[in-house]
Amino acid sequence: MSLESAKMGKISEHFSDTDMLIIKPQKKNPLISAMILLALLMICGVYFCLICLKQKGFIINPNSMRIEQIERSCPNPNISKSEVPYVHYPEPTTYRRNECRCTPVRFFAILSMQRSGSGWFETLLNSHINISSNGEIFSVKVRRSNMSTITETLDKVYNLDWFSSASKNECTSAVGFKWMLNQGLLQNHDDIVSYFDKRGVSAIFLFRRNLLRRWVSILANNHDRDTKQLNGTHKAHVHSKDDADVLARYKPKINESLLIPTLKQADKWTIDALKYFKGNRHIVLYYEDLAHNRTKLKEVLEFLRVPQRKLKSRQVKIHTRPLSEQIENWDAVSKALKGTEYESFLQSD
Ligand SMILES: *[C@@H]1O[C@H](CO)[C@@H](O)[C@H](O)[C@H]1NC(C)=O
Ligand SMILES: *[C@@H]1O[C@H](CO)[C@@H](O)[C@H](O)[C@H]1NC(C)=O
Ligand SMILES: *[C@@H]1O[C@H](CO)[C@@H](O)[C@H](O)[C@H]1NC(C)=O
Ligand SMILES: *[C@@H]1O[C@H](CO)[C@@H](O)[C@H](O)[C@H]1NC(C)=O
Ligand SMILES: *[C@@H]1O[C@H](CO)[C@@H](O)[C@H](O)[C@H]1NC(C)=O
Ligand SMILES: *[C@@H]1O[C@H](CO)[C@@H](O)[C@H](O)[C@H]1NC(C)=O
Repeated sequence: MSLESAKMGKISEHFSDTDMLIIKPQKKNPLISAMILLALLMICGVYFCLICLKQKGFIINPNSMRIEQIERSCPNPNISKSEVPYVHYPEPTTYRRNECRCTPVRFFAILSMQRSGSGWFETLLNSHINISSNGEIFSVKVRRSNMSTITETLDKVYNLDWFSSASKNECTSAVGFKWMLNQGLLQNHDDIVSYFDKRGVSAIFLFRRNLLRRWVSILANNHDRDTKQLNGTHKAHVHSKDDADVLARYKPKINESLLIPTLKQADKWTIDALKYFKGNRHIVLYYEDLAHNRTKLKEVLEFLRVPQRKLKSRQVKIHTRPLSEQIENWDAVSKALKGTEYESFLQSD
């Protein structure tokens, strides 16, 4: 803002100089001339204010353009050649990065599936001062209508022009969001792979090993969406043990004939996604590993090239008991999975 008003001031000064040149030859009553000049100045001021407000300060001034050019060249970061495509200096259109304009920014996307711990993972990342992960932005259907709306949305995020509660704006050094495989990602994979390639976006795959637990979580979450068990509001994630206990009380009944096909489907999505994006810079994480081994998080921070810090989340796990206590028709389910490749899901966390 201050820069804009300074620019405005400079322009009206220029203007007043030329005005004076035009007015001078008349030279009648110095007081009247001064008054006219003052009035002209005021009109000009108001006029330029209006223009500036309308166009957000895009008055082209050779001086300021030169300054921006100088501003753009930041000192070369001390990085290896292979890192260069992943380092960016975004210039947001909605604000200035100010003292952080030379802080290099990495682009990432968390590629995941619903109920795989990505909400929890994202709160952990956002507890880092240099990371902004902007949530599930493609849950809004119009944004994933076609590749042009997808590109437009991605450009806005990576230009640091996306505003969410997670955006830390000017001093962010890693920016991203989470993207579910079924939110236009697999559908448009060719174009998205080339976008990631071109813009140097790194992929963070986050999957859940135990797909049966994931399914229980999906069914319980759907149930809560309908019944709103916590004081009449639906909660996909909770911050207290009491709330978690309330949600975990519900034991879903699983349709046995859908059991194997559903697990196979989720497996296939995972395999496809890894295949499509194998040429992009990526890391593969499993929810179970992150939950049991916090040093895994160090790897993530290294991958994002941000300083190591302790990450925190207020979220509390909902389903903590053995699956046998959390599935209504446990006997039928365990019978259906015995002897299949998914048998281990019955016992593991
Ligand atoms: C650049 O990085 C290398 C290795 O990370 C380090 O040894 C070197 O001192 C750095 N140079 C400067 C100028 O910071
Ligand atoms: C992280 O953010 C802090 C606070 O905004 C900033 O001072 C620091 O330079 C940033 N560090 C990196 C590596 O971007
Ligand atoms: C993409 O989707 C948007 C929003 O639904 C629509 O306005 C636009 O015409 C579509 N573009 C193409 C190329 O299909
Ligand atoms: C919701 O209800 C529980 C008791 O069932 C209560 O302890 C809690 O404070 C309530 N939370 C809100 C946000 O009203
Ligand atoms: C289980 O799923 C099958 C296939 O979609 C369906 O035909 C059947 O009615 C379902 N059974 C129950 C009890 O919902
Ligand atoms: C925890 O993760 C780190 C980093 O991936 C790994 O080196 C270590 O072996 C893991 N520890 C356990 C107990 O799995």
